[in-house]
Amino acid sequence: MSETAPSRPQMRRRKFDIVLYGASGFVGRQTVAYLAAQARKHAPGLRWALAGRNPDKLSQSRKAAGRAAAQAEIVVAPVDDAAALAGLARSAAVVLSTAGPFALSGSALVQACVDNGTHYVDITGETPWVRQMIDRHHARAAQEGTRIIPCCGFDSVPSDLGAWMLMQAMQQRHGVPCVDIKAAFTMRGGVNGGTLASAMNLMDSGSAQALKDPFLLDPDGAGSHDARDHADPVLPVFDGDFQAWLGPFVMGPVNTRVVRRSAALLGYGGNFHYQEYQRVGGGLVGGAAALSLSAGMRVSQAALGLSPVRRLATRLMPGPGQGPSRERMDQGWFRCDLVGRSASGQTVRARIEDEGDPGNRATTKMVCEAALALLGPAEDLPGGAGHGGVLTPASGLGAVLVQRLRGAGMRLQVEP
Ligand SMILES: NC(=O)c1ccc[n+]([C@@H]2O[C@H](COP(=O)([O-])OP(=O)(O)OC[C@H]3O[C@@H](n4cnc5c(N)ncnc54)[C@H](OP(=O)(O)O)[C@@H]3O)[C@@H](O)[C@H]2O)c1
Repeated sequence: MSETAPSRPQMRRRKFDIVLYGASGFVGRQTVAYLAAQARKHAPGLRWALAGRNPDKLSQSRKAAGRAAAQAEIVVAPVDDAAALAGLARSAAVVLSTAGPFALSGSALVQACVDNGTHYVDITGETPWVRQMIDRHHARAAQEGTRIIPCCGFDSVPSDLGAWMLMQAMQQRHGVPCVDIKAAFTMRGGVNGGTLASAMNLMDSGSAQALKDPFLLDPDGAGSHDARDHADPVLPVFDGDFQAWLGPFVMGPVNTRVVRRSAALLGYGGNFHYQEYQRVGGGLVGGAAALSLSAGMRVSQAALGLSPVRRLATRLMPGPGQGPSRERMDQGWFRCDLVGRSASGQTVRARIEDEGDPGNRATTKMVCEAALALLGPAEDLPGGAGHGGVLTPASGLGAVLVQRLRGAGMRLQVEP
């Protein structure tokens, strides 16, 4: 253990249970409201703080969350102030970050968490940045038992926990693993300016090519695969299991990488295959809609590869700090249907669903419950006490997060 990383018993004496970094952003403000409600109803002793770079905006966030947030402290720690970030990390058992683009604002915070043995969760979908965090920190975090868990929002909790639940169910029912799992998403939701800013930064930074690697997040030496067998879907397909036309799912290139990292870390098996889609509908109308979805995604990806188009799009679309109206978020929902198949053809099915805008309501619930999961007994978490690394929702939180999300009203069900 390094000199800077505290032992786990010392963690309990830290000033805060959870520090919310990026608490002034569109999702950040929702995490403040969520934790304030949790602290009031279910966790009266919770010690938490709002953090970020701008004290005025953080005060506004706290004020907007009402009386239940009034006791929360404010910690100002810009990302270029290493001493402030170290102080923040030392003061917290868990840091929850919603500050993005993560490639611009996340690296120094993760470094501070690893240096100080502070568990960390976030809502990034920026897989090239996650790859950097794996390369820099996995070995040390694993050695010192620090859980660094990116991708705890809508990308990629339903995919990752869904695949994990099916692996468990197949083993329990048939005594064998799934060799193939596919997921089909349907959803209604809005788009945040912060999400668009993160996507644009990814393209501007030249890391778009890395996104195409199906095993971008795999551990070193996880075994070789033929990438063509795991390539992201491009064309529509009619799927007999779902009885529907499926097209490419916009978050698939993020979620599939996270599930494949879980597969490698948790040992799903060398021939494990995972893919995901957007479910469109049945019949001729569904086929036509799937075709236009596929074509639309190809055209928009090609167009956004051009920097003048990106500049124009940035001017027309919502900016950082903006997002869907409250009404639109209330009307949102998502459903993720999954089918798992064993080598000899046995199947298991699962469904994960919830009401509310997936990129905001569901994301807030998922990441806050992920942070709260890390406060419970470490023995209950995957790998037990002392387990760490740059992990995934399934490999870092597993059954504890499933239970917490069920308790928070999300439906995560394996079909009987
Ligand atoms: N996983 C999911 O499903 C999901 C869903 C939604 C969003 N996201 C991701 O979450 C991130 C935030 O989204 P959002 O809609 O909340 O964006 P947002 O409203 O623009 O908020 C961004 C937050 O990050 C902070 N920030 C940005 N750059 C910073 C820096 N250099 N140093 C310190 N703080 C910095 C901002 O602080 P200031 O207020 O001081 O500017 C603000 O608090 C994005 O990366 C987005 O892609 C993921």
